Amino acid sequence: MPKKAVEEIEELRETLRRHEHLYYVLDQPDISDAEYDGLMRRLQQLETQHPELIAPDSPTQRVGGKPREGFVKVAHTSPMLSLDNALNETELIEFDRRVRDLLHGDSYEYVAELKLDGLSMAAQYREGRMQQAITRGDGRVGEDVTENARTIRTLPLRTKSSLKSFEVRGEAIMPRRAFEKLNAKQEEQQLALYANPRNAAAGALRALDPGVTASRQLEYFAYFLLVDGQFHFESHWESLEFLAKLGFKVNPHRKKLAGLDELLDFYRHWEAHRESLPYEIDGLVVKVDSVRQQQSLGWTAKAPRWAIAFKFAAQQAETEVEDINVFVGRTGALTPVAFLRAVNIGGVTVTRASLHNEDEIGRLGVEIGDRVLVERSGDVIPKVVRVVRQGGSRRPFRMPKKCPVCGGEVVREEGEAASRCINTNCPARLKESISHFAARGVMDIDGMGDVLVDQLVSRGLVKSVADIYDLTVEQLLELERMGQKSAEKVIANIDRSRKQPLPRVLNGLGIPFVGERTAQILAEAFGSLDTIAGADDATLQQADEVGPKVSQSIQKFFHEPRNRELVERLREAGLTFTHEIRKKSGGPLAGKTFVLTGTLPNLAREEAKSRIESAGGKVSGSVSKKTSYVVAGDEAGSKLDKAKELGIPVLGEAELLAMLK
Ligand code: IVH
Repeated sequence: MPKKAVEEIEELRETLRRHEHLYYVLDQPDISDAEYDGLMRRLQQLETQHPELIAPDSPTQRVGGKPREGFVKVAHTSPMLSLDNALNETELIEFDRRVRDLLHGDSYEYVAELKLDGLSMAAQYREGRMQQAITRGDGRVGEDVTENARTIRTLPLRTKSSLKSFEVRGEAIMPRRAFEKLNAKQEEQQLALYANPRNAAAGALRALDPGVTASRQLEYFAYFLLVDGQFHFESHWESLEFLAKLGFKVNPHRKKLAGLDELLDFYRHWEAHRESLPYEIDGLVVKVDSVRQQQSLGWTAKAPRWAIAFKFAAQQAETEVEDINVFVGRTGALTPVAFLRAVNIGGVTVTRASLHNEDEIGRLGVEIGDRVLVERSGDVIPKVVRVVRQGGSRRPFRMPKKCPVCGGEVVREEGEAASRCINTNCPARLKESISHFAARGVMDIDGMGDVLVDQLVSRGLVKSVADIYDLTVEQLLELERMGQKSAEKVIANIDRSRKQPLPRVLNGLGIPFVGERTAQILAEAFGSLDTIAGADDATLQQADEVGPKVSQSIQKFFHEPRNRELVERLREAGLTFTHEIRKKSGGPLAGKTFVLTGTLPNLAREEAKSRIESAGGKVSGSVSKKTSYVVAGDEAGSKLDKAKELGIPVLGEAELLAMLK
């Protein structure tokens, strides 16, 4: 037995399994798809050379990762297999040759579609209604995400079709704009950013609360129609047209192509124009159009022989890290940025790449002077994928102990990835805090844009958020490009903001982990800013959705003398510090929190939820000490285990119905 091959195979399998777990289960891949493909390739190659070493548990022998706990698992009607990849033109030519050979001179046509970078999902329709939506999962068993899928507007809930039942397969994606909005919001709430739209879409599709999915604005593009597990039309093209007629979103950039040359043209066109699309694509999918020919070409264990994913070259290049510097953001977070020797990646000159935080630098093991692989994707700031070669006279990056903008102390809290400048008056932070305070949806001070904020801070007119309430028309008139009318308007808008309700004031303070939603909850639970400021851990955590992280952040904020002073000045400025406490509604289930898991015999999940709520109870997505009851149906998953672990009473449907009476 070739010992070296055995070792390499074992090592590759281990590595691939780890990455699969990161990718499929945790939605946190830490290598690029291109690198993953490369590793898989190498393993496939070794296994082809040594077929005796193929094991049923090798990553080459299955389609994807395991579905994660938390959703009901459902078997697919027929496996949702994947596609083989062509990573360059030579491999596409090879694919075409194989098709031609296997079709023995029969003429054939391809249908090329964009390869949307999202998650595949199957949706079942009966009597024209969408019944069930299932993620791909491991290809054989997926997760029932019906309730979440219902929130996707491009997935019809009803269609007019004479077919009694059918299944649609397609891709759930997050458009770039929705992704950017989401990340802006994450940043505002000081939460971790999503690495790309694909991960964000995965998170949204598997959110425990369908409301979250709805807010993420996913889209669904259909690309397969199955009737009784079979393709229903004679050609793929016809079924796409049919799906479009039924009301599904079918990607318009599809084309029938006669042969290789047309295929390559189409590919080059989209490689050059992919950035102009409102969503991300990572290549083309090429399918033999005729279903009869598809059948004669058949399938391997993993993929059809009649289709291939023709991937775009990774937008990657190697260069050198010349320096690492830090930038200070709104929350005071110091973001290390690699300054690179200029390199061209896909037609764009790249000179910087974000390194996010100290942990990321540690994970990459990158130092100044190293040669690194850099990846660019869409409009997102480029990122360092890995170190290619360590520099001869490399030197490690150290997070500065003092803020590079104000010289203030830099602190990294336990459990947080970011190091922060804790000086709330740091000009870098100050500008961002004021913009946040004045923003739409917060204190809504119209006219207080970045340009004005910049001038106010640089001229020393505003040294704290509270200072904006002392501004006068005369002061504003001294600023560049500020006329009497605009100045009066801004002052009037500032004045009006004094009446904003407490949740907005609370959000405006910029307390880490207290965004719009938490601010609302806190205001409704405690009724005044002073109560919140003076509350201890136990009291704060009595509020919904407030755990130790949020509670500690609140206490720490109000402990700082500087913040206490800010609060006093805002009080003097006449801001709203009280709020009506939300009365616990009457109803037999008032004050009780329920968690639903599994499938109930009669009640649909939404129905159970609305009945509990109209009886005054609350329904939450996850089991915690605050849960009063867990209602479990068939195939209840980890929530049931958690309930048992925490000793929370578990009810069946009948018991729930009895309580609702
Ligand atoms: S066909 C067996 N068409 O790419 C047929 N897939 O690499 C498999 N994808 O799992 C799917 N756009 O998630 C097909 N127009 C398209 C696609 C597409 C994106 C994804 C899909 C699939 C993966 C295969």
